[in-house]
Amino acid sequence: MKKERSQFSSKIGFVMAAAGSAVGLGNIWRFPYLAAKYGGGMFLLIYIIFVLTLGFTIMTAELAIGRHTTLGPTKAYGALNKKWNFVGVIGAIVAFIIFPYYCVIGGWIVKYAWIFVTSAGQAASSDSFFTNFAAQPIQPVLLQILFVVLTAVIVIAGVQKGIEKVSKIMMPILIILSIIISVYSCIQPGALEGVKYFLLPEWKNFSFQGCLAAMGQMFYSLSLAMGIMITYGSYLNKKESLEASVTQIEFFDTAIALLAGFMIIPSVFVFSKGDPAALGKGVGLMFVNLPKVFDSMQFGQLVGALFFIMVFFAALTSTISLMEAVIASVCDSFNWSRKKAVLIISGVSILLGIPSALSFGVLSDFTIFGMDFFTFCDFITNSVMMPIGAFLTCIFVGHIIDTNIILDEVRGQNKTFRREKIFVFLLKYIAPFCILAILISSILEGLGIITF
Ligand code: PHE
Repeated sequence: MKKERSQFSSKIGFVMAAAGSAVGLGNIWRFPYLAAKYGGGMFLLIYIIFVLTLGFTIMTAELAIGRHTTLGPTKAYGALNKKWNFVGVIGAIVAFIIFPYYCVIGGWIVKYAWIFVTSAGQAASSDSFFTNFAAQPIQPVLLQILFVVLTAVIVIAGVQKGIEKVSKIMMPILIILSIIISVYSCIQPGALEGVKYFLLPEWKNFSFQGCLAAMGQMFYSLSLAMGIMITYGSYLNKKESLEASVTQIEFFDTAIALLAGFMIIPSVFVFSKGDPAALGKGVGLMFVNLPKVFDSMQFGQLVGALFFIMVFFAALTSTISLMEAVIASVCDSFNWSRKKAVLIISGVSILLGIPSALSFGVLSDFTIFGMDFFTFCDFITNSVMMPIGAFLTCIFVGHIIDTNIILDEVRGQNKTFRREKIFVFLLKYIAPFCILAILISSILEGLGIITF
């Protein structure tokens, strides 16, 4: 017997859930750091162009594959062409690998939110606080488990009662908090210089590396190539306009990235007296530099608490989507019930997350290709498997199956697809080359052969 597939109850619910997936640590922590590094306004401009072209194309294709087949990633490609089923399997595996280590970061966020809610947050502003905390053998593991469990509780409740409901509450709160914090950050004395740097494009700041970084960021930020949009598309009602939904999701995602830039770049500028390098790299920005900035601000504890609560929501809606992509895959492939799937996947994810949680302490000497376990999971998914999956998806939709199947799905019941020509052109001839460029450069970078 074929079980009836769950559906989002409304378009707004779907858009909130998909935007919830897209809005995450990528927007809040990675985007401002990359923007500051690659020339502020110039990076922003290039990024927006990529979102509107390649991002639009691939997100539309993925949602359409999902909605057309009403299947999760591990079955959807095969339903269109048996030989290509492995592409969807790659996507599901990506989600499965990312989920545990994303929960490790989620656990750190819980810790920081707790610190700022319950104390002045000063402790967190010392240089060694984060390194000492992340190196502990027990706390990061327990917090990671907590984050997996929180995600599981929501996912087990189902698409409408869990994911949709929670996203409809958390996303508006997230937006309001982002606006409050960014306005406060921009009215700090001296913040204007940072705002200018962030917004005004200058040609001298244009670089090829900046373009590649913007493209990679676009993929990550829109949650592409990891089976998520296929899964969420499979729950979207046929009545709703796919094209309009994609525009709204992209709008949300970009708006939050911009707000995060406003939150972080001006205040770090003020704090560091105009040196963009102070934005630091990777975890440093959010867990080391920002607490210092909060510490130096008036009302710093409140701003810090609101900030980490906001990041907590952003991360949780992302882990929900990651887990859902995995759950949909195992339910479709093995016919498991949702409950059984959530319990088993949570257990396995907790186990897989432990080496990631310990990568900054007891397991820091355990390396694969010179990377600790956490960094390796990040590298193998973001730099290798995701570009491969996205590349194959473009080839699949553009050249292997009849592209009309997908176009028809996008046109939907209203029979309109305004950007159809540009979609087809980008999908067939431009996107695959751009993705190959990301793949090659990110592998070379990850292996330390080139540095950006
Ligand atoms: N899109 C999310 C972000 O911007 C990241 C993410 C990656 C979410 C993988 C889900 C899966 O942070």
